[in-house]
Amino acid sequence: MQVFVKEKGLKQRISYLKSKGKSIGFVPTMGALHDGHMQLIKASKQKCDITVCSIFVNPTQFNNKEDLVKYPRTFERDKELLKNEGVDIIFHPTAEVVYPKGLDLSVDMDLEGLDTIWEGEFRPGHFKGVVQVVKRLLDLVEPGYLFMGQKDFQQFTIISMMLRKLKISTELIVVPIHREKSGLAMSSRNVRLTKEFKTKSLVLSRMLKYAKDNYRFDKISEIRKYALGKIEEEGLKPEYFAIVNGYDLHEVKSSDENYIIAIVAAWAGEIRLIDNIIISK
Ligand code: PAF
Repeated sequence: MQVFVKEKGLKQRISYLKSKGKSIGFVPTMGALHDGHMQLIKASKQKCDITVCSIFVNPTQFNNKEDLVKYPRTFERDKELLKNEGVDIIFHPTAEVVYPKGLDLSVDMDLEGLDTIWEGEFRPGHFKGVVQVVKRLLDLVEPGYLFMGQKDFQQFTIISMMLRKLKISTELIVVPIHREKSGLAMSSRNVRLTKEFKTKSLVLSRMLKYAKDNYRFDKISEIRKYALGKIEEEGLKPEYFAIVNGYDLHEVKSSDENYIIAIVAAWAGEIRLIDNIIISK
């Protein structure tokens, strides 16, 4: 396994591998790796000859300074995990490498409002930062395949739009949510949950399942009200619970639409959690 910090070494290695006809899979991460990330790595290894994983805590996607400071940084542990999983290349750049002075890396693209609803309403500017860093990393790695997790549903929907609009030929592969045995969606933030909130947070996956089981029979507004009530009863502070169309993320009007997803975000004490479930494809 090779670790690159700078652009030049990474690019040279990748163009060599490409010249040998190797396909490149890319898993972008911010580190603090868990089993959910390992599913992305496994998917990449299954499909591609070479798997590149980036570890970079991207400052431009944090709308909350404190969250950026507190974000767990566990590079040595991450490196060990990636080595054991058989990753070929780690890209671990500094902020100066990703955002060199004097280079305009803003991505001028209309996200058609996908970036200002749900997560975007509570994390203003977040998706602009994600688009910027993913575009930059794609320019550096130039992979054939990009692997992202279903857990960040809005994120991959926006990245998929970016790939389409900017005519980037990388194919996006979405890997299903990986859950702890309890049902809690895996997240780098879970390690910061207190024992009590780890149990209480299970209400999120329970309510998503409830929505999936009941959306054909009950009014969507009733499901939403019930779920929000149950989340509050457990002592979590919900930001949203919605049943949306997976293409444009707008609330569905009827259960006849296809590609329907239930999404939720809530605070469990100090920790903000998100989760979702695909109700119909
Ligand atoms: O999902 C994440 O961890 C980040 O948003 C990503 C895609 C690595 C960009 O920084």
